[in-house]
Amino acid sequence: MTSLTLDPSGIFLTLTSPTATLRFHAIWLRDNASDPDTRSVDNGQRLITLRDIPADTHIENADLDGDVLEVTFAPEGKAVTFDISWLEDNAYDVSHTPMRGWTASEVDTWDAGLMNNVPLGDFGELTCGGEALNDWLGKVTRYGFGKIINGPVEEGALFRVVEMFGHVRETNYGRNFEVRTEVNPTNLAFTGLGLQAHTDNPYRDPVPTIQVLYCLESSAAGGENMVVDGFAAVLRLQQENQEYFDILADHCARFKYAGEAGVCLTSRRPMIELAPDGELIGVRFNNRSLSALTDVPFDKMVIYYEAYRRLAEIIDEESMEVTFRLDPGEAFVVDNTRVLHARKGYSGEGSRWLQGCYADKDGLRSTYNAMHREANLEAAE
Ligand code: FE2
Repeated sequence: MTSLTLDPSGIFLTLTSPTATLRFHAIWLRDNASDPDTRSVDNGQRLITLRDIPADTHIENADLDGDVLEVTFAPEGKAVTFDISWLEDNAYDVSHTPMRGWTASEVDTWDAGLMNNVPLGDFGELTCGGEALNDWLGKVTRYGFGKIINGPVEEGALFRVVEMFGHVRETNYGRNFEVRTEVNPTNLAFTGLGLQAHTDNPYRDPVPTIQVLYCLESSAAGGENMVVDGFAAVLRLQQENQEYFDILADHCARFKYAGEAGVCLTSRRPMIELAPDGELIGVRFNNRSLSALTDVPFDKMVIYYEAYRRLAEIIDEESMEVTFRLDPGEAFVVDNTRVLHARKGYSGEGSRWLQGCYADKDGLRSTYNAMHREANLEAAE
């Protein structure tokens, strides 16, 4: 049973249940009112600005009626109701973890142990939407990548993958890019080289948040795809050496690409990106496009490079990587703000053809959340 106390100042009230004591401020409650004069009944958008709410807003009266809280605000004399469950879901009077590098509850970090449990979706099932798509998008959100199998072997099929959850993000490389590799003994030394795991295009601002790679041809031996959880890598770095973690989070790196006429892409962002409250929200790691570091003070540059080197060593460890082969008609989707990808070297002869494109993570999350919301609404009906 929930009980209510109104502070004599009218500045906040307190809801006490057997499991929690939660305080809510008058100004917060008023701003979050859901009455039709405050929020559109059509799209849920707020219809007023903060300046429409008096600065001296306080709670004149508050009552509990079952699972509903009724609040009257002065000086407006406005009465508004709130569902207790909504208040509990949106409570902010909770302890916040002070540790840097915490991750959201929907994120699970992983290492090579995930190898036999790669998030997998069947192309045909995913395009039908419903439970299969919901499940796969949930896994991509949790692990930062997912593989798709049994797709058509036809040019442009990668766009049908993107259509499952969002829209293509076009760049100067076009709507998509081709990754073609001919592997034969004479050029093996060149094309057979593996690539170090990296995030794509850190020189863009913002970076492409989703990458899709779709396989159309793969007759060369080797050349497996590999992914590394950037979050797991930087959290391991933190475990080993907090100073290393901090220096890569507290100073911006610079990235640049000017490899074609008319293009000069630059960005200034840290390799480890934290939200102001310490949440780990992004990793940028790409040896090819890192430009001169000019934002690290002279007396910290040596330790910055030590930290960068140690992070690279962790990323290169086999125990961190999940590898999988992509056969024609198979694809993978990666959260480019978190998971690094690479290609292993080749050991034989043949050819390989992939098509790649970028998309946006907010679209993927939107599709996933909207599916959940609709499922919950149906369940409630
Ligand atoms: Fe790449």
